[in-house]
Amino acid sequence: MTTTLRARGLSVHFGATVAVQPLDLDLHPGRLVAVTGPSGAGKSSLLGALAGLYPAAGGTVELDGTPLRDRDDAVARHVVLIPQGNALVRLLSAEENVALPLLDRRHRHVREAARDALTSVGLAESSGQLVEELSGGQQQRLAIARGLAERGAIVLADEPTSELDAANRALVMALLRAESNRGAAVLVATHDPDAAALCDAELCLDEGAATWIRHEDGHHAPEPRREEI
Ligand SMILES: Nc1ncnc2c1ncn2[C@@H]1O[C@H](COP(=O)(O)OP(=O)(O)OP(=O)(O)O)[C@@H](O)[C@H]1O
Ligand SMILES: [Mg+2]
Repeated sequence: MTTTLRARGLSVHFGATVAVQPLDLDLHPGRLVAVTGPSGAGKSSLLGALAGLYPAAGGTVELDGTPLRDRDDAVARHVVLIPQGNALVRLLSAEENVALPLLDRRHRHVREAARDALTSVGLAESSGQLVEELSGGQQQRLAIARGLAERGAIVLADEPTSELDAANRALVMALLRAESNRGAAVLVATHDPDAAALCDAELCLDEGAATWIRHEDGHHAPEPRREEI
C-alpha cells in the first residue's frame, strides 16, 4: 500500500498566531523528507495538520487525490504520527503501548508485531517494563516503535531523535529510511543537522514560512524558494 500526500496552500492558525503560512508540499512514497527550523517555527503544527489534527487548517491536504477530513480519517488511511513528547501511557508496559493502536485496527498478530517493533529499536529486553520505569531516551524509542509497528502509508515523525545518543540517533534514522524503502512517505521534523542530511530533501520553516533549502537531487537552492519535490 502506497499513498501520496499533497498539501496546497496549507496554513495553520491558533487564534491570532500564524503557526504555518500557506505552503505547498508533495510527499511521495519512498521519500524521506526533513522539516527543520528553530523552536516555534511551526514544525509540529505542520505535522499536526498533515496528520488531520487541525481540520480547520487553511488550504487542502489530499491523500491520493481524496481530501483528508480529520484525525479519524487520517488514522483510517494509515497516516501515522510519532508525536513530539511521545504521548505514552505511563502505567502500561512498553509492549502494551505498542500494541494499543494495533488492537484498534484488529491487527492479526499484535504481540508479535509489538515485539518486532520493540526489537528494532533495541528494547526487546524492556517489553514488560512500565513506561515510567524507562529512561527518557528509552521512552522516545518506544514511541518510535509504536509508530513503526503501525506500518503507516504516511509516517510523520516529530523530533524522534531529540533525546537520543549518537548511536540511537543513527538507528532511528535508519529505521525511518527503512520505512521509506518499504514504500511509506516519511516526513521527519528535526533540529539535528546530521539527521536532516540523511534525508532526500529538507524543508525549512522560519516563523511559519517554508523554504526548500535542499531538493531531492541533493543540490542546494541558491535563493529561498517554494517548490514541489
Ligand atoms: N495548540 C496550540 N495552541 C496555540 N498556539 C500553538 C499551539 N501549538 C503551537 N502553537 C504556536 O504555534 C507556533 C508554532 O509552534 P510549533 O509547536 O509548531 O513549533 P515547532 O517548530 O514545532 O517548535 P519546537 O522545535 O519547539 O518543537 C508557536 O508560536 C506556538 O506557540
Ligand atoms: Mg515541535
